[in-house]
Amino acid sequence: MKITQHASLLPYNTFGIDVKADYFIEYNSADDLQNVLLSDVVKNNKILHVGSGSNLLFLKDYEGVIIHSAIHTINKLKEDDKNIYLEVGSSVLWDDFVEYAVENSWSGVENLSLIPGETGAAAVQNIGAYGVEVQEVIEKVNAVEIETANFRTFKNHECKYGYRDSIFKNELKGKYIITSIVFKLEKLQVFNLTYQQLEEAVLKNGEMNLKNIRKTIIAIRESKLPDPKIIGNAGSFFMNPVISKQLFRSLLNVYPQMPHYCVSEQEEKIPAGWLIEQCGWKGKRIGNTGVHAKQALVLVNYGGASGAEIVHLAEKIQQSVKEKFGIELKPEVNYI
Ligand code: EPU
Repeated sequence: MKITQHASLLPYNTFGIDVKADYFIEYNSADDLQNVLLSDVVKNNKILHVGSGSNLLFLKDYEGVIIHSAIHTINKLKEDDKNIYLEVGSSVLWDDFVEYAVENSWSGVENLSLIPGETGAAAVQNIGAYGVEVQEVIEKVNAVEIETANFRTFKNHECKYGYRDSIFKNELKGKYIITSIVFKLEKLQVFNLTYQQLEEAVLKNGEMNLKNIRKTIIAIRESKLPDPKIIGNAGSFFMNPVISKQLFRSLLNVYPQMPHYCVSEQEEKIPAGWLIEQCGWKGKRIGNTGVHAKQALVLVNYGGASGAEIVHLAEKIQQSVKEKFGIELKPEVNYI
């Protein structure tokens, strides 16, 4: 294990907020993590485990220990005619894993190309895009309990996955650290083209195959979403709200062009980006913060913004959406 005091967290949050942590500890195996969790510095301080911080917003310096995984391995566990099972270390960059899968012609994660962050965080957040959620390919999740340092394996159903949600964000929040994830990918070419216009966009680029799906999705994302290396951001700032059919019908009367997706017989999901754009926020700037001009769901740090300034902008947006549509937007980003 490696301990640094007064560590800058700038490399560990894609919003580019310049804060510090009292301690920063990195571990390179599940056994090493056990030692970290049993150490005095961890026992005597508040701790937070981070990936690459693509879903975090630091509001101030962190008074405690930030823990980060350095488990970078990908191991083939087994395979049969149809599937391959891969164990991926929690700090493997998500998109490096997607690239590796696509290069090997294994399908299942190609629609999740270019999502920022590390694999461990992907399993906490149940990342999703273009009709696919990561839970569809997760077989199990290996973790260590923070309090006891005991190992535990969670089967997929035990993770209680939902839209951008899992047990690790609810009952077990702050209780386990994920060290690796076992994925089950398809060796046969199985494509998910349920997202509107994806099939058309892929075919415009060439043949229907994994490499071309990845290339197309990268192009779509790059055209809408800012690169965090250039402009600080955390992808979608809010979740897409799920509302009652009753509210949905009354809104559709007033806004017949409102995009929407059916969730169940009782509920409908509305794109938060559309709601925010309708409130006139798209492309607006307040000081060093702003709403991205090509996707209103993304809040950006133009440089030097504090976490509090971003929260201030987020609250103003939430207020306008509430006033105009009667809908409460919930942040997808975690405030720390
Ligand atoms: N829209 C607008 N204005 C905007 C943005 C979107 O009117 O500024 C409309 C679009 O025209 C479209 C609808 O909203 O009709 C949906 O837009 P889009 O397909 O871009 O997706 P999204 O719902 O805004 C979600 C995810 C993204 C994911 C995309 C693609 C959430 C919170 N966000 O965004 O995930 O990439 O779908 O599947 O579910 C992320 O989580 O960080 C993220 C980027």
